[in-house]
Amino acid sequence: MAKSTLSFVCQNCGAAYNRWQGKCDACGEWNTLAEEDATGTVPVSIRSKRKGRTFQLESLSGKSHDAPRLPSGMTELDRVTGGGFVRGSVLLVGGDPGIGKSTLLTQATSLLARAGHRAVYISGEEAIAQVRLRAERLGLSDAPVQLASETSVEDIVSTLSEGAVPRLIVIDSIQTMWTDTVESAPGTVTQVRASAQALIRFAKKTGAAIILVGHVTKDGQIAGPRVVEHMVDAVMSFEGEGSQQFRILRAVKNRFGPTDEIGVFEMTGLGLREVSNPSELFLSERDLGSPGTAVFAGIEGTRPVLVELQALVAPTALGTPRRAVVGWDPSRLSMVLAVLEAHCGVKLSGHDVYLNVAGGLRIQEPAADLAAAAALVSSLANAPLPTDAVYFGEVSLSGAIRPVAQTTARLKEAAKLGFGRAVLPESARGDVGGDGGLNLNSVGGLSTLVADIAARGSRKPQREAGNIEKNATPARFRRQDG
Ligand code: TYD
Ligand code: MG
Repeated sequence: MAKSTLSFVCQNCGAAYNRWQGKCDACGEWNTLAEEDATGTVPVSIRSKRKGRTFQLESLSGKSHDAPRLPSGMTELDRVTGGGFVRGSVLLVGGDPGIGKSTLLTQATSLLARAGHRAVYISGEEAIAQVRLRAERLGLSDAPVQLASETSVEDIVSTLSEGAVPRLIVIDSIQTMWTDTVESAPGTVTQVRASAQALIRFAKKTGAAIILVGHVTKDGQIAGPRVVEHMVDAVMSFEGEGSQQFRILRAVKNRFGPTDEIGVFEMTGLGLREVSNPSELFLSERDLGSPGTAVFAGIEGTRPVLVELQALVAPTALGTPRRAVVGWDPSRLSMVLAVLEAHCGVKLSGHDVYLNVAGGLRIQEPAADLAAAAALVSSLANAPLPTDAVYFGEVSLSGAIRPVAQTTARLKEAAKLGFGRAVLPESARGDVGGDGGLNLNSVGGLSTLVADIAARGSRKPQREAGNIEKNATPARFRRQDG
């Protein structure tokens, strides 16, 4: 019996089925299955006749070439890639439309071209005139970048095979590329996958580094095929709040470098400007002395980053209070709220809670717990926190404050930016060295912090006096009423 060919492919995740169905079992999306010709796969009868070519087997020892890198000249970009583009590697850059992907890559190719490398920019979305217009705006028209507006992968590969091997090729974007080897329309999973495969093969064969630009869907995934993410060596996402000028480049996957580093840029009228000291940027628009804001001394990769957390706690008009959070993990917020309620005598069940990380940064560290708790309590008690204090520490379910890594680096950064004191876990004091003369205020439990902030609030007219018990004490010392 002939083997059936799988010919219905989910356009969201790439799962293949041999008959049509309404819902994709793999990703749960509806109406995403489309019939696709299974051309591109060689028929079984032919495949089995092909005689295998022999190849050389290698030993584990032996001389391995260290991945030679090509720094782009943009420090923030190189930080995220792990020191530059690796020869023969393929990097996928995803991001919302209009976030600045084309701008970033035009700048990167221009810098390389100016440094004397062969750099190629292929735009499948914009006409040559549009790309030139952008370059003019960026003041990069003089850079010897090789430019084309093309979408056929075969044409691109044969054109680039001539002459010196390009050091960097930008394909903007992979969704616009198509290849003759499959019959589906451009933009379908099959086309994107086949085009990416052809380009990856070209990169591996020649040693050119390729950057693929990928569109992002509403829910933040690189549109269509997650399969492309698995095929490439590195995946980067370019993020930012539409209304703000900050842009953050983050590595999601990196075979040749770290994945916890971020690159920070600012979108200006003259293109992307690198921000080498993000703390200054994130703290530049601080509301000094208003309740509900706390500065968190965080670490992004190897770099300390100070950022402001803003909280608003307000009486709710709804049966179920709202909890909204931007830039932080919502389940972490729920946990901090629960600990405040259970161990610190802070009543929040009748309040809406909003928490925002300023500047569009997304924090992943648990070390932000203490700063978040401080901002929340400060808003509830209407008690501004000291403007010269930074906060960091992890809150445990018992209400204890646990130490976090890299205390010294956090304190140094705070001292550098003119902060005078740090509120930190008690047990972290041991590994403090060279704190730059910061006044250290260590707390062992969250209830101590809450009592401190409540005491500051009681010196001012109170908005919510009844919500923090006087001399807030851990729950176990409190009378349980109902
Ligand atoms: P672009 O790089 O085209 O975004 P993407 O390729 O990710 O879709 O950038 C588009 C936005 O950037 C657009 O809204 C205009 C803005 N921009 C600037 O603010 N300054 C500049 O110098 C450039 C080139 C673009
Ligand atoms: Mg673009």
